[in-house]
Amino acid sequence: MALRLCCAWIPILLLLPGLLDGGKLLVVPMVGSHWLSMKDVVEELSQRGHEVVVLVPEVTWLIETTQNYKVVTHPVSQPLEELDNVFREYVALHLTEKPFPLNALAMYNASVHVFSTFFGQCKDLFRSQETLRFLNQSGFDAILTDPLFMCGTILAHHLSLPFAYFMRGFPCDLHFSAPQSPSPLSYIPRLFSFNSDRMTFFQRVENALISLLELDYCNGYYAEALKLSSEVLQRDVSLTDLVNSAAVWILRFDFVFEYPRPVMPNMVFVGGINCAKGKPLPKAYEEPSKPVIKGKE
Ligand SMILES: *[C@@H]1O[C@H](CO)[C@@H](O)[C@H](O)[C@H]1NC(C)=O
Ligand SMILES: *[C@@H]1O[C@H](CO)[C@@H](O)[C@H](O)[C@H]1NC(C)=O
Repeated sequence: MALRLCCAWIPILLLLPGLLDGGKLLVVPMVGSHWLSMKDVVEELSQRGHEVVVLVPEVTWLIETTQNYKVVTHPVSQPLEELDNVFREYVALHLTEKPFPLNALAMYNASVHVFSTFFGQCKDLFRSQETLRFLNQSGFDAILTDPLFMCGTILAHHLSLPFAYFMRGFPCDLHFSAPQSPSPLSYIPRLFSFNSDRMTFFQRVENALISLLELDYCNGYYAEALKLSSEVLQRDVSLTDLVNSAAVWILRFDFVFEYPRPVMPNMVFVGGINCAKGKPLPKAYEEPSKPVIKGKE
């Protein structure tokens, strides 16, 4: 009975003016292929009546202006060559072969280097009082961000705005551990273990060891982000503090790519949105699935 009463109200609430108005959304994207995945969503949000502002560093790759959303840039100190070089080194490393554990260590080292270089742009954002003042005065309702480089998250805390994540994944399983999704080690293979969800006893031990390492390597990876957060927010901040208050986690994968696992109710899977634009299905495949509505022909 109570349920029926509550649900009867929903259509009435939706009809009230105001509630259906678009919101004012600040988008803090990540460069490169991540942006190519996010762009269509941002355009769609704008077409559905939301006022969208995309915040980008003055020097970056591949974020073009369109009529669909406004782009606001902030000053940065690094030249484009520096970003190009660090990324080139990162790619080159993926193409060299090294035995375990040297490969893992080199990969970690290179990832830290890429992160700290790109994070320089975030430090520049927080040095630009003019940009911060503009963002604070713009009265945004929320922030949508690809959080891998953490800048959008820090900004959301700084401006006290609710934030939604649009992402593929954090290192260290942070996207599951921070919101406290259960992660039983016997059933959920850790990233880089290359195990499946059916593990032998020794694979489970390996899984447990990797998860112990995960506790710490993200603190190293995100050391600069944690330092900046503490300065900006003027308190000690942990990675969990930073990310666990995300309002919604929109995850760009699904169980087809990963393994079944329990997740929190504010995690939404949108597998299939990816940087490579899918071609439309050949006509022959599309026709049979057309819904046939009787009496409406
Ligand atoms: C780590 O990366 C830095 C910068 O790219 C490089 O100078 C250093 O040699 C690397 N160290 C290891 C152990 O790979
Ligand atoms: C944003 O502006 C409001 C009102 O003008 C002010 O109270 C608040 O401290 C500002 N926040 C930041 C982070 O500057």
